[in-house]
Formats: sequence, structure tokens, C-alpha cells
Amino acid sequence: MMTTEKNFLESTAGPSSHPANLASRHAISCIAPARVNLLGEHTDYTGGLVLPMAIPFATHATISPRTDGLYHFTSSLFPEALTLDRSDRSPARRNWTDYPVGVLRQLQQRGIVPPGFDLHLTGNVPFGAGVSSSASVEVATAMALLALANVELSLEDIAVLARRAENEYVHSPCGIMDQFVITAAKAGHALLLDTRALTYEHLPMNKGNLAQTQIVVCNSMVKHSVATGEYGIRRRESEEGQAVLVKKFGVRDLGDTTLAQLEAAQSEMSPAAFRRCRHIISDNARVREARLAMFAGDPIAFGKLMLAGHASERDDFECSCAEVDFLVETATALPGCFGARLTGGGFGGCTVNLVARTHSEAFASALKVAYKQRFNIAAETYVCDAVDGAYIRNTHLHSTSSMRDRV
Ligand code: GLA
Repeated sequence: MMTTEKNFLESTAGPSSHPANLASRHAISCIAPARVNLLGEHTDYTGGLVLPMAIPFATHATISPRTDGLYHFTSSLFPEALTLDRSDRSPARRNWTDYPVGVLRQLQQRGIVPPGFDLHLTGNVPFGAGVSSSASVEVATAMALLALANVELSLEDIAVLARRAENEYVHSPCGIMDQFVITAAKAGHALLLDTRALTYEHLPMNKGNLAQTQIVVCNSMVKHSVATGEYGIRRRESEEGQAVLVKKFGVRDLGDTTLAQLEAAQSEMSPAAFRRCRHIISDNARVREARLAMFAGDPIAFGKLMLAGHASERDDFECSCAEVDFLVETATALPGCFGARLTGGGFGGCTVNLVARTHSEAFASALKVAYKQRFNIAAETYVCDAVDGAYIRNTHLHSTSSMRDRV
């Protein structure tokens, strides 16, 4: 369980259920966690590997039917409310409602028409911190709308439609990692996802000496937004390099490509495209090595991979910043720390640290003190273990089967 200075919602662990089993006359409450990524960053839009886990922040989506057929959206976190009729196809409004409305649009495109509803969103996922507040909202909303409409979709389909909501309605060019892990995560495990095939493996975090470690997330409080330009620029540069490699070697994407192939094509792409691809190809390799380190229960090997991943993001992908680099460097010098790196989209946001369980609280305090001295910013730290993906809370009243039994 995580400790945090913030108001913290009740446990996010619990059974999920088959939406079709829910009685639609009752309010339905869906809960979706946040996520951190342990390794494999910016690899999820060029067919690569990622290794995230779900963390115990949560979005709560509560949905109840309305008799007038309207769609009504409210949140305790934002002042704007929105009411739409079923025929509405208006574009994004550039506020929080774009995320749930984007999910509704995806369902409508698939011919799924929920009955009228009141959807209320609340939660404690920090915004702009790189822990996926938007994907958490999308997945919680998707599960709530599907439950109300009595429609069953696979976990993969839910993740894909939530991602499309963000790409096509919010116009944020994110990959599939966040929505997938928030949907499919398993407590006590990281999720290894092949973002091309959408196949995945739950990797236990309690083997050997890894059982004695915890994840400490540190929020630099430097705001991050995937929708702003830098993410899109990095993505285009990566895709430019990928296109050269696809043409030259017939690979499907960067997920297939080796560093030797990249080097052989260096003169055919811009220096920026070369460096972005070098980060992505080397991070895919680090995820494969991290999988072995997890099965071997080896936090030393895992921590080294995290540090190499950070150096690659800082120097080749150029998505770090002075504050985050300071947090990573400071962390590595603290007792009990095996590894640290920037997590998520970058340009601020959070670091993720692998720390001996006996040292995690002292580590978090020392990191905050050093950061405050250097930047006069009060960082927030969250000591956490991996939790389950999204689920429907009040299903013991109605459900007979578990969605997770199906995967
Ligand atoms: C953001 C995006 C993800 C992924 C990460 C970087 O979190 O939403 O799809 O690209 O950045 O790994």
C-alpha cells in the first residue's frame, strides 16, 4: 500500500466483473488506477516493449441512468459540467470533459449507444505529473459506459478504445502503454507489453531479493503535458528514423530493429532522428534484460538498467530536465537505492526509484530535503507496491463472473 501526503482514497484492490452482469437501474462505480513505467519509455508508438505497473492512485467513475436520455458529465475536481443529447457530435472543448466525451464518441463509432446517464468523476491522481491521469479517466469512463450499456469488451479492446479517445478526440498523440496497463495490470506484478502485438505478461515483483524492494515515485512538480509540442516532435523524429529503417531493411518498426542496422543507416537520417531511434532500440533491449533480472530476483541488475535508461532518455531522447536529472543523481547516492529514472512522457513529471524496503521512507524524506534545498520546490513522494488494473466496485451485488478470469 502506498503512503502519500495527499488525501488518499480507499484501497484500489478488488475483484473486477463482467459488465453485462450489472443491473442498469443501479449506480455503478468503476475505479481505475494510475501508472508508472519501470522501463521502455517512448517505445510504445513504434512497436516496442514497455514495462509499467499500476500504482494506487485512483479515478472513480460513478454512473447512473437518467430517464430523459441525456448524457450529463460532472466532476468534483473541475467546475465545468456538460450535458449532451445522443445526436451530439461536437468537437473537443479543451477541458476535462474531453476525456470522457472522447470515450463516448469511440463507443458511438462502434454502434454502442448507452442509455441516458449521469457520469460523475472524482479521484486523486495528480495531474500533469506523468502518472497517467488522463488514461485513468478514460479507462474508468469506458468501463462505466460499457457496464451501463450492458456491453462486454475484452481488456484489449477497452485499452485500444481509450487510447483512440485520446488520439482522435483530445488530439494527444500518445501510445497504448498507459491505457493498457491501467486496464490489465495485476497487483504485485509489472506488466510487460508488446505494443505491436498487444500481447502481455505479468512479471512478479517478489522474486529473490526484489521482494525486499519497493518503488518510490517522486513528483518533481514540474508540469508535464503530452498534448504540448515536445512529445509530438520526438514522436515525429522517431518515426522519421523508423521510416528509413523500414525501407532499408524491411523491418516492421523499431521494435524489430537492431542497433547495428541503425548505425548502418545513420547517414540517411537527421542526427536527431538517429539519437531518438538509438534511445528506443536500446530501451527495447533493456526491457528484455529487465525481464530476466525480474525472474532472477536481481535488483542490482534491474537498477543498472534503470540508470542506463535514464541516461539514454536524457542524452539521446532529450526528454528530461534539470530538476529530474537532479532527482535521479541524488537518488543514486542515497542508501538503499538500486536505480532511478525519469518515468512517463518526460519534460518534468515523476522519477521512479527502486529502493530497499527497509530504506524507502528514509530515502523519500532525504530526496525531498535535497530537492527543496536545490530548487526550493516541495517534491511529493509516493512509496508504493503494484496494484490491480481497473475494476467495477459494487459488483458483489450482481456479478457472477470476473472479467479477469477471462485473460
Ligand atoms: C506518455 C504517453 C505514453 C508513452 C509515454 C512515454 O505517458 O501517454 O503512451 O508514450 O508517454 O513512454
